[in-house]
Amino acid sequence: MNNNVFKAMLYALTKELDLGVHIILADHKSVLYNQSMAKLEGQSEKDVLLKDFRAVFSSIKEEDSTLLRAIYNGEPTYNREQRYLNRYGKWIHTVNTTIPFYDLEGKILGAIEIAKDITQIKEMSDKLLSNNSNNHEALDTIKTYTFDDLKGESPEFLKVIEYAKRAAHTDASVFLYGETGTGKELVAQSIHSESKRRSKPFLAQNCAALPESLLEGILFGTAKGGFTGALDREGLFEQAKGGTLLLDEISAMPYALQGKLLRVLQEEYIRRVGGIKDIPVDVRIIATVNEEADKLIRENRLRKDLYYRLNVVNLRLPPLRGRQDDILLLTNYFIERYNNKNEAGIEGVSEEALEKLYNYSFPGNVRELKNLLMNAATLMGDYSIIEEDHIRVKEEEIRDEDENLSALKGSLDKYIEEKEKSLIALALKDQGGNISQASRLLGIKRQTLQHKIRKYQLKGDI
Ligand SMILES: Nc1ncnc2c1ncn2[C@@H]1O[C@H](COP(=O)(O)OP(=O)(O)OP(=O)(O)O)[C@@H](O)[C@H]1O
Ligand SMILES: [Mg+2]
Repeated sequence: MNNNVFKAMLYALTKELDLGVHIILADHKSVLYNQSMAKLEGQSEKDVLLKDFRAVFSSIKEEDSTLLRAIYNGEPTYNREQRYLNRYGKWIHTVNTTIPFYDLEGKILGAIEIAKDITQIKEMSDKLLSNNSNNHEALDTIKTYTFDDLKGESPEFLKVIEYAKRAAHTDASVFLYGETGTGKELVAQSIHSESKRRSKPFLAQNCAALPESLLEGILFGTAKGGFTGALDREGLFEQAKGGTLLLDEISAMPYALQGKLLRVLQEEYIRRVGGIKDIPVDVRIIATVNEEADKLIRENRLRKDLYYRLNVVNLRLPPLRGRQDDILLLTNYFIERYNNKNEAGIEGVSEEALEKLYNYSFPGNVRELKNLLMNAATLMGDYSIIEEDHIRVKEEEIRDEDENLSALKGSLDKYIEEKEKSLIALALKDQGGNISQASRLLGIKRQTLQHKIRKYQLKGDI
């Protein structure tokens, strides 16, 4: 590939990217400066391109420039947070990575800086944190959910609630699994409001969609000097003091940060990002996932050691599909609430409408049922009963009536084991408990039979 093709390719590649890219060569000349970078730094491309970096960015001290350090010493910088006023006087917050690149002999040819603009995310998180810290008193008076708000009668649901109530009276970490919309947040809040921590804050943080450096600051706080422009600020662990911290979608937390979290939980103190002081923390953790922990661990999305640390109490909220009693109960509950709130007079749902709900798979669980009904309430106009037509489910999610997937789960193994157990018992009985003879009858080795007898706790003259 000739040089020009290569240049054109690089230019096209970086042009549309929403990451800032700046490449300089060893002679300090900027050879690539894309639009995103120009926007971030408030420079125009032509003021930078093919100019000497030191002349254009004369206000940056050489030792502070990651690009210069990379071409002088081959020193890379990873994920460094920076806060600066750009040319238009706007505070910009970025996470930067700068790496040198080499020729085949190992001589430094130049360096690439990649900048990710996190200004908006940062503003959001600042707002979130200051809201939390200003509102502690207010928060305490705002109603958090309690177990009374959790509706359901099916045995599998009641069992989880019973465990959750028991957990509320301990200080143990809770690991909460459930598909989206099954009530994880409600359960977490209920545990908090029934625990001895109830007069202390309940704070929640979703671990998805935040870059590592930012999430770390949100959780553990930042200390002045931690990165350019960092402020002294407490993180959620400090803000939640004495209270409960809900970490939603813990498996979305970057792997390295999961390690740091584990250390914090073991040692019970935190260190702010960039800080040197160890600050004791007293927080109860409730962590949630919406995929199976086994799978998350296998796929290296959840650290096994962190999982064991959090999984002192394990709660599994059942999906709504197939729980007919709860579908009916929750339907009536949401209609009643709707009536009270809107002074409406919906009398209920028709048989056909209910049948439709029973046969629906509810990928969004209770939240989806609630939305379906709220939607039906507007669609029904002057009707007083919600009819089948008013319930607009996703057609492809309607279940085959005979197919109850959750009942099928793991059923083949169970069936085979039960069959095996009863055949072995029969053979043993037939041979008066003689294992050698029974094994011959079954056509398996004596040792295998002994092993299975132990496994199924059957009697034989071992
Ligand atoms: N058992 C329940 N009784 C009454 N309402 C419920 C119940 N479970 C869920 N809900 C309703 O469903 C909504 C969603 O619940 P919640 O936010 O706790 O789900 P989640 O499991 O945290 O979902 P996600 O994984 O999407 O965050 C709640 O706002 C509430 O209205
Ligand atoms: Mg939730």
